[in-house]
Amino acid sequence: MPAIFTPVASLKGQSVASATQFSRADIDALIQLALDMRAHIEAGNTIDALHGRVMTPLFFEDSSRTLSSFCAAMMRLGGNVVNFKVETSSVNKGETLQDTVRTLDAYSDVLVLRHPKEEALEQAIGAATHPVMNAGNGAGEHPSQALLDTLTIHAELGAVDGITIALIGDLKKGRTVHSLLKLLTHNFDLKKVYLVAPAGLEMPQEVLDHVSADVQRRGIQLEQAAGLTPTIVGDCDVLYTTRLQKERFEASATGDADAMAAFAAAKSGLLIDKARLADAKAKMIVMHPLPRVDELSVDVDSDPRAAYFRQMRYGLFMRMAILFSVLA
Ligand code: NCD
Repeated sequence: MPAIFTPVASLKGQSVASATQFSRADIDALIQLALDMRAHIEAGNTIDALHGRVMTPLFFEDSSRTLSSFCAAMMRLGGNVVNFKVETSSVNKGETLQDTVRTLDAYSDVLVLRHPKEEALEQAIGAATHPVMNAGNGAGEHPSQALLDTLTIHAELGAVDGITIALIGDLKKGRTVHSLLKLLTHNFDLKKVYLVAPAGLEMPQEVLDHVSADVQRRGIQLEQAAGLTPTIVGDCDVLYTTRLQKERFEASATGDADAMAAFAAAKSGLLIDKARLADAKAKMIVMHPLPRVDELSVDVDSDPRAAYFRQMRYGLFMRMAILFSVLA
């Protein structure tokens, strides 16, 4: 018998642009839907809810997990995916983003956009008649990642309210941590957030300004640090680490060589390895949006607290819940 899933009604026909667009009720419902879909799939069943619907990813930046999990999610819902490749497209002939979006929009029910420029997202949403999923707009946001991260915390720890979390690494250009901080502080009664970044790579002031009212209203403790300490590691339920967004510094007109040098110098203070986890609680998780470079040692992989590979799998089910709700 086919399972009946309930879409999250507020997402129907909507673009997913920012982590700020979700209410607590939306997030709770998306988590439940994702977990229901996981149970169904892992019991060996299939879902055909989006049979005949078409998704086109437009990826102007590299991706492994986000691209493949959006495609797998669409296919696991019975839908289809257009294999559009920017590298061999008319983008090379000078076509504008808007015209490329208009073209794929004419063939699709939903678009998934990743682009190095923050403003590309609004341009694409303006040019499309169908919903656009933001799969990362420059150093801006990555809302589906924040949702899958929240699902990971909920599923692994049993609750998101009351946790202490450290966001670690390149908090300046890392879009995953921008979206996650906004989503968590707006919707959950966190106990404490540590923002751990070397000088020059701190969380941007505009993100801090954005979350400050929620942080105050909920009484969330916010502490900035330049490196990890045994106290921070021992206090956290979640250590969420990220890589240096090297390509964004290399692409920046001002060079930002100082920031890259600062990261290199701060590396040992940010590193998460087996020795560092000696200070951590028995029940806590290490997360990473991946790809990792050298901020997260492979000697952590066999630790049960290493949640980053499971996090990828939660991403499949969260993107199924999103696509189903947007298109159903
Ligand atoms: C992240 C991204 O693209 O922002 N990757 C991802 O989607 N899981 C993180 C990164 O590239 O460092």
